[in-house]
Amino acid sequence: MKKTIKDIEWQGKKALVRCDFNVPMEGNEITDDTRIRAALPTINYLIENGAKVILMSHLGRPKGEANQKYSLGPVAIRLHELLNRPIEFSPWDKVVDENVKAIVHKLNPGDVLLLENVRFRPEEEKNDVDFSKELASLGDIFVQEAFGTAHRAHSSTAGVADYLPAVSGFLIEKEVKFLDSAVNNPERPFVAIMGGAKVGDKIKVIENLIEKVDSLIIGGGMAFTFFKAKDLNIGKSILDEESIGIAEDLLKKAREKGIKLYLPVDVVVAEEFNNDSPSKIVNIEEIPEDMMGLDIGPETIDRYSEVIKEAKTVVWNGPMGVFEMPNFAKGTLGIAQAVADSNAITIVGGGDSAAAVEQMGLADKMSHISTGGGASLEYLEGRVLPGIDVIDNI
Ligand code: 3PG
Repeated sequence: MKKTIKDIEWQGKKALVRCDFNVPMEGNEITDDTRIRAALPTINYLIENGAKVILMSHLGRPKGEANQKYSLGPVAIRLHELLNRPIEFSPWDKVVDENVKAIVHKLNPGDVLLLENVRFRPEEEKNDVDFSKELASLGDIFVQEAFGTAHRAHSSTAGVADYLPAVSGFLIEKEVKFLDSAVNNPERPFVAIMGGAKVGDKIKVIENLIEKVDSLIIGGGMAFTFFKAKDLNIGKSILDEESIGIAEDLLKKAREKGIKLYLPVDVVVAEEFNNDSPSKIVNIEEIPEDMMGLDIGPETIDRYSEVIKEAKTVVWNGPMGVFEMPNFAKGTLGIAQAVADSNAITIVGGGDSAAAVEQMGLADKMSHISTGGGASLEYLEGRVLPGIDVIDNI
């Protein structure tokens, strides 16, 4: 069991909190503040318990150089609005320097300070010992709250814990609770839904989950690599050539283990990779030579929905089609609806599947939507995430 912020007597102590405020931006506008909202319970708890709160995060990939495009200034403004209290923002590119130390020195219990983007320092991604020490010098206790970045062993996510006691925040606790019980102790039937363009990107997750699930549903571009492995004609559809052998092995493994592996029975094909391209629905054995599959078809949506309806645990990662093009989004939206309607424990991985759920206003129908894209995938692969590993055990 990992220590959490509830195991600490906070009054007057400096909480150095690593959040994942890596939010999508258009210019200075934050287009989705889900990750900021997700950290609020922890920040509020620390404030209410008299901690001096020092927040740190990365934003984007500024490659170790200060770059205003990636400043956390807009996040400070959003935090101020959401917390409805003043937020100190230290705009210094060095992240930690004498100016920042002076602000920290003056913090009172309940005050909140946000540091500038930790990736403005080239040492951050190298997990540099001296930078980890510099960060650690600002706090008394390290709070890990950045689930989305917990798969990175950087100074602010892992190194800093070598020099401070480390506990988890509420978001990390929740993410680990849901993902861990799905992977290690699922209520059955356990159904995993995997989508996305390439088998190669999800291979380790599928290999790990195939040992644990009762049914595996495949959708998205990766289905065509499985069809190729079954010697079907896929026309101009996306093919992950290097993974055909892997797809063959997975089909064999599923057969041997008695796992039901579902592939689409019909697909929406189009002439071009373009929302306005002429399209039609065909059986998977009838994909025309000069067309490409861009979504699962209606019969597949119905069949997959039936499987999801019977499940007690559902994990979903990856879109069923080219979700960003409205004419090829029906499959992903249909599966989002089926997952929302089910009575199972439902866990949605970050990225496009989470976006589909948000777009349909179904977010509150899911048991858990992970704030981590890469991090949740690595967790489902069964890997130990360095940012979680460093949290002290009870
Ligand atoms: C994410 O958005 O997946 C995390 O914030 C990690 O970002 P990174 O891939 O740039 O490390």
